[in-house]
Amino acid sequence: MTADLHLGQLVLFDGNPFFEGESAAKHVSSGAILVENGTITAVGEAAALKAAHPNAAFHDHGNALLQPGFVDAHAHYPQTGIIASWGKRLIDWLNTYTFPEESRFHDPVYARAIADRYLDLLLAHGTTTVCSFCTIHPASVDALFDAASARNMRVFAGKTCMDRNAPDTLRDTAQSAYDDSKALLAKWHGQGRASYVITPRFSPTSTPAQLTALGQLWAEHPDCLMQTHLSEQTEEIAWVKSLYPQARDYLDTYETHGLLGQNGLYGHAIHLEARERDRLREHGAGLVHCPTSNTFIGSGLFDMEGLMAEGQTIGLATDTGGGSSFSMLRSMAAAYEIGQLRGRPLHPSELLWLATEGSANTLRDQTIGRLAPGSAADFIALDLASTPAIAQRSARADDIWEALFPTIMMGDDRVIRQTWVAGKPLKQ
Ligand code: GUN
Ligand code: ZN
Repeated sequence: MTADLHLGQLVLFDGNPFFEGESAAKHVSSGAILVENGTITAVGEAAALKAAHPNAAFHDHGNALLQPGFVDAHAHYPQTGIIASWGKRLIDWLNTYTFPEESRFHDPVYARAIADRYLDLLLAHGTTTVCSFCTIHPASVDALFDAASARNMRVFAGKTCMDRNAPDTLRDTAQSAYDDSKALLAKWHGQGRASYVITPRFSPTSTPAQLTALGQLWAEHPDCLMQTHLSEQTEEIAWVKSLYPQARDYLDTYETHGLLGQNGLYGHAIHLEARERDRLREHGAGLVHCPTSNTFIGSGLFDMEGLMAEGQTIGLATDTGGGSSFSMLRSMAAAYEIGQLRGRPLHPSELLWLATEGSANTLRDQTIGRLAPGSAADFIALDLASTPAIAQRSARADDIWEALFPTIMMGDDRVIRQTWVAGKPLKQ
């Protein structure tokens, strides 16, 4: 098999810029990535790699910035068709737009059509890995993993479990949630690039019996991730308190049912109490910031500075379709804006790190989100002058961060010149 040598600018991280500042990242203006059999085998200066690998096929991407494909750590692929629906807050938004759409996924043909559409949109936007909720229907999980497998994409997903406070067409039971999740886990977890994720939607739509059953399943498969929602909106938190009067706080509804752990992913995590923060940190659980969703649904301002400083594990996500975009660039921009509203502007190196390595860390996968030997060759070429508006600003830039920031703030799928998955170009 031939080796491919991709030439362009690189930004390489060897630390977390939240702790080490800009120096955690190295800019290589004439860099190269060597790809063999779907894996990155070398990264560095173009001149040195060209000399060392003269027989490789050279692909010169000019001054494009080569980066790991974005990692979206929390999304709902079944909400593709209802993204950007107007005017509701969380609970009304779920009842008005989300649940009727998710009910359609009992039809495997519809589920597969949306899964294909969704993954092609991700690739167009430079996202190579997603961790997605499906619907209660096992066929919705098969559809996404089949579509991912056709593209050889690294995808994490699970059957969403709900046995109360949802329409009849969208309710399972404690037992069927356990049985269906267990069967899907056996079918998909570790198949190719698929990882199964145990997925109780959130405490309001599960009975204590269902949370217990899924906690039991997780105890049987502790290597699996478990994903859910936590403390997104104040009305939601009040509802959780009324449904679980014994609970010390929202997180306790998961904790007492075996659903708190290092491999847990907690989407939103905005209005956390001190005890919840302590317990999340003690477990090293993953917190997933969903900034376009938090502004779109009006949920609140994630405390990136405080949570990062206290040592939480944090990733970034679109939360499509509560989030108003498929783009991790747009998510970075919204994270920047929320940081500004909290008095802490995030540096472009921090935004880029969150969208790649930070999210990969929450998914416990060291082989994605990085440009490093041994990583999967899931990478993208970004045009830092993709529109006239961006080009005229980046033309004035004095360094890579100033050149990149207009793309973060104003970029969309036009930024992504190409997306490679396991070394193969897939953007249509
Ligand atoms: N909480 C429970 N379900 C959902 C969902 O689908 N989207 C968002 N944003 N929050 C939720
Ligand atoms: Zn969500």
